[in-house]
Amino acid sequence: QAFTVDTAKLKEISLHFENELRKGLSRVSRCLLPSPPSSPHSDESDSEDYFGFQTEEGNLPMNPTWVLGWPSGRETGEYLTLDLGGTKLRICWVTLSDRNNEPIVDQEIYQIPEHYKAGEAEQLWSFLANSIADFVQDRELEPDEGTVLPLGFTFSYPAVQEYIDHGVLHTWTKGWDIKGVEGHDVAGQLRQAIRRKGLPIDIVALMNDTTGAMIASAYHDPETIIGAITGPGCNACYMENCGSISKLDGHSLPANLPMAINCEYGAFDNEHLVLPRTEYDVAIDEESPRPGEQAFEKMSAGMYCSEIFRQIVLDLWTRKLVFKGQSATKLKVPYVLDIDFMFDLEEDFSHKLSKTRMLLRSVLQLDANDAELLFCRHIVEIINTRSTRLSTCGVSAICRKKDIKSGHVAADAVMASRPRLKARWAQALGEVLDWPQDREHDPIIMTVARDGSGVGAAVISAMTLQRIADGDL
Ligand code: GLC
Repeated sequence: QAFTVDTAKLKEISLHFENELRKGLSRVSRCLLPSPPSSPHSDESDSEDYFGFQTEEGNLPMNPTWVLGWPSGRETGEYLTLDLGGTKLRICWVTLSDRNNEPIVDQEIYQIPEHYKAGEAEQLWSFLANSIADFVQDRELEPDEGTVLPLGFTFSYPAVQEYIDHGVLHTWTKGWDIKGVEGHDVAGQLRQAIRRKGLPIDIVALMNDTTGAMIASAYHDPETIIGAITGPGCNACYMENCGSISKLDGHSLPANLPMAINCEYGAFDNEHLVLPRTEYDVAIDEESPRPGEQAFEKMSAGMYCSEIFRQIVLDLWTRKLVFKGQSATKLKVPYVLDIDFMFDLEEDFSHKLSKTRMLLRSVLQLDANDAELLFCRHIVEIINTRSTRLSTCGVSAICRKKDIKSGHVAADAVMASRPRLKARWAQALGEVLDWPQDREHDPIIMTVARDGSGVGAAVISAMTLQRIADGDL
């Protein structure tokens, strides 16, 4: 029962969400940056006078991304892209022809050593620069005479952007905790590391994974309205007219020009006013590197769902209600379960849940009897259901705020490729938005997002270079 979010509660959360979206757009001087660099292409300032966000007016960052307008679908060219977001680093060489041709993505994945996530800035940026150097050398990529290779950098953490190739990290999320990056321009730090390696590369655009997902999807599908991620973290991006982003007052931007807004809505309800937290949610928050932050994310993102599952099973093991007499060595390891674990258990249609039995044994070293198997399956279902239902609160709030009645929400494959989760999401969205029961089809549907950090980053780089060429930047 503690995990049940009924229609009335969904609506209450969604309403509060809508108010928070508005507050986030209107907040004046969201963030006191170090004295900004004098030109968009100069290096970051090293000044330490960064004070973080002003939080007296809600806590949704609603970061302007400087991605202006939708792609035309005619963007072309070759681009380097770099994706830093979770456990892996991904580098791609992307060739765009146009909307009617499938982009060519040549990619390499680099494993980020686990201890880097709590290490030092220098270690991270050198690792990135070295990996880029390996990538371009392996492929013998060279820029044309007198030019540099354009790089689109997807950085999936909350960065406050003063322009498209700049972004000051507000706070690490998703368990990362690298010293010397918060309060600094991450594009500037990477740019310096690239220069130290002497690479002929420059960062054209910095973007969030949600922005990349939205733009990559819109490149092929003009009905795209939102880019949403529900993997390790949870967040969404949508287009807002510049005239409605009152915190941008002072920039002379046409009122009807759309700009992508990275909501950073994992931070929704950090004050704990509306979210129905359980004792397990409280424990996860308190044991995290940043207690009191990312309240919504900690209840809905995949990475935390598996951790909630672990905590529940451990709690019942401690009370001798399940897996009696078995060793809980593995079960006691925080974050031992990856995000696929939950989906694999829920989508186990094997005879007598044999796949679940096998997973419990291999990952947690637990031997489940039939009742325990059913119990685990049930717990997974209620955690996933709560997560999916909560995630519709953000999407529905955006749709109401923008008066969007139909369109496609491009979501990462973690969710969008799982029929059960998708159906649950549609059901909950219909409840919040009062869709008629007898509707023939859902007006807003979830689609599998295109490759945001590859194709999306390339399209955004192409759009940016075009604006520079047109003298619009
Ligand atoms: C976290 C990050 C955000 C990202 C999301 C999904 O919420 O703060 O920037 O979009 O995870 O990866």
